[in-house]
Amino acid sequence: MDATQWDARYSGSDLVWSAGPNRFVVEVIDRWAPGRAVDIACGEGRNAIWLAQRGWQVTASDFSQVAIDRGAQLASAAGVNVNWVCADATTTPIEPGSVDLALVCYLQLPEADLAAALGHARAALAPGGAIVVIAHALENLEHGVGGPQDPGVLPTVEQVLDSLDGLTIERAGNSSRPVETPDGVRDAIDLVAVARA
Ligand SMILES: C[S@@+](CC[C@H](N)C(=O)[O-])C[C@H]1O[C@@H](n2cnc3c(N)ncnc32)[C@H](O)[C@@H]1O
Repeated sequence: MDATQWDARYSGSDLVWSAGPNRFVVEVIDRWAPGRAVDIACGEGRNAIWLAQRGWQVTASDFSQVAIDRGAQLASAAGVNVNWVCADATTTPIEPGSVDLALVCYLQLPEADLAAALGHARAALAPGGAIVVIAHALENLEHGVGGPQDPGVLPTVEQVLDSLDGLTIERAGNSSRPVETPDGVRDAIDLVAVARA
């Protein structure tokens, strides 16, 4: 989907994603001391706002201006400051060494584009900084529920690890995420990777 299509998706009156942060964002980052963070492909900013509430100094970027505008409204309503930027993650470098955390949560792109975005994200890490990648796993198609049905935008752990080569891998694998469906609670399968510079 291009930025115009995402703009259209975000243009309805309802939130597209949950109001609260992603469960793996909380699981991984909750105990970390706050610092400087960038939330790449932030959508409506649920994770960026949660980080800001926990004392992180956050820049949140997405190529959908509609999503960015909505994030800014939600942050204002929550009483937190987030620096909102409209930018394409595949083509926009981030200042090298400028962040302690680069979060990439459900950025659904073809392999080469995701690799480009992860390249910019990891280059932004200060020494000791962490990149956290959360994605619908390729295995979700057969064994999970929800998420994109195009295998071309569903990464494998190996694919993400290729992009994180040279960093210290702290976590890399698939994890279950229970979701409500019309047929009851089912497990979605997400890929969670954490690596440190
Ligand atoms: C599934 S949503 C996830 C949003 C958010 N990270 C979250 O977890 O709530 C994917 C987001 O990626 C953004 N996106 C897709 N391709 C992008 C690109 N090339 N550059 C920046 N953002 C992009 C979309 O606009 C959308 O907001």
